Amino acid sequence: MSDGKLRWAIIGTGHIARKFASDLRFSKTGRLAAVGSRRAARATAFAEAMGGGVTGGETAAVLGRDDVDVVYVATPNGDHVNVALQVIAAGKPVLIEKPVAVSADEARTIREAAAAAELLAMEAMWILFTPGIVRLRSLLAEGRIGDPSNFNASLSYARPYREGDKLFDPRSGGALLDLGVYPIALAQNLFGAPDDTSGIAQRLGNGSVRQAALSLRFADRLATIACGFEAEGPNQAVVMGTRGFITTKGPLLCPPALAIRAKSPPGPYVPADDGQVEPLEKPSRLAALSNLRKLASAYRERLVMTPFVGTGLQYQADHFAECLRDGLTESPVHPMAASEAVLRTIEVVGRRG
Ligand SMILES: NC(=O)c1ccc[n+]([C@@H]2O[C@H](COP(=O)([O-])OP(=O)(O)OC[C@H]3O[C@@H](n4cnc5c(N)ncnc54)[C@H](OP(=O)(O)O)[C@@H]3O)[C@@H](O)[C@H]2O)c1
Repeated sequence: MSDGKLRWAIIGTGHIARKFASDLRFSKTGRLAAVGSRRAARATAFAEAMGGGVTGGETAAVLGRDDVDVVYVATPNGDHVNVALQVIAAGKPVLIEKPVAVSADEARTIREAAAAAELLAMEAMWILFTPGIVRLRSLLAEGRIGDPSNFNASLSYARPYREGDKLFDPRSGGALLDLGVYPIALAQNLFGAPDDTSGIAQRLGNGSVRQAALSLRFADRLATIACGFEAEGPNQAVVMGTRGFITTKGPLLCPPALAIRAKSPPGPYVPADDGQVEPLEKPSRLAALSNLRKLASAYRERLVMTPFVGTGLQYQADHFAECLRDGLTESPVHPMAASEAVLRTIEVVGRRG
């Protein structure tokens, strides 16, 4: 760590591995040091393309290296549990692509192995660390829309079925595991683990989930969520509270802006000294116009810009580094128990397809 930055290894050389490698260039805390693959030649080619002294090798060799501090697992969903356990056995903290595993039981296995080894393990639920969602949490905490009671989100892209594509694998693919995890994780991040889950999934001929609709109850709060491979959706989240609502603008996974529409808090009611009710007067046209303006401005939409650089995958890596700096073995924002809870929610809905 000669430059004080965490040295990352990526396991896997596919689509998201490349994006993460590219975004790490914007990280304040880390840099790419190594790439691991099932085939050394593929890792070497990836590393050479990255430049900057990055080296490649077979996964086991990379995990054994002293010049690797932390590992990001970017392999297909069905392999996450095995690769994560391999990383933990090698004594390294691990950031695992979403979904962290393909069942809640597998997620628990990772959580328990990391806890026993006193190592940080976290699902790469990057949406929760983007500037847009960090700002959403702070606006809610400031009470900008009063008491939040309702969450609604969709994440849906039209993806034509292709035989053999892992996206449509009945065990490790499907719309709930590929897309649903994001809005469910966001709802649970804002409101906690649900007390009650209901929903329904529609399946393709091979048994994988093509679309799903969910309702979650959290004490006195509710969330409704849709996800699917059938349609291009609005792909946004809305949080509603007693004074208004906040909507994500632009891509949900890394929103570049938020829109707030909130009423000003009502002034206190002050009765007349003598307790008499004032007679109502017909307002003048001018007073009516001014009232209308006040009403409109009370509901005016305010745009809060939440700019980011790159794709935005680096913010989760910086959070991971902060956890390590603070000696944590669980993220306070997205602990492994939260990932496990998301998969349990998915399992409840998946059973009703
Ligand atoms: N955060 C996001 O926005 C986002 C976006 C897309 C995907 N993801 C997640 O990232 C993970 C990887 O997705 P991807 O789209 O990057 O997949 P991909 O393009 O297929 O890449 C996966 C890589 O994993 C390695 N691998 C190891 N075992 C494998 C196996 N049994 N079959 C195939 N490849 C294997 C391969 O690298 P080697 O051949 O070099 O071993 C392959 O290049 C998934 O969990 C997915 O859900 C996240």
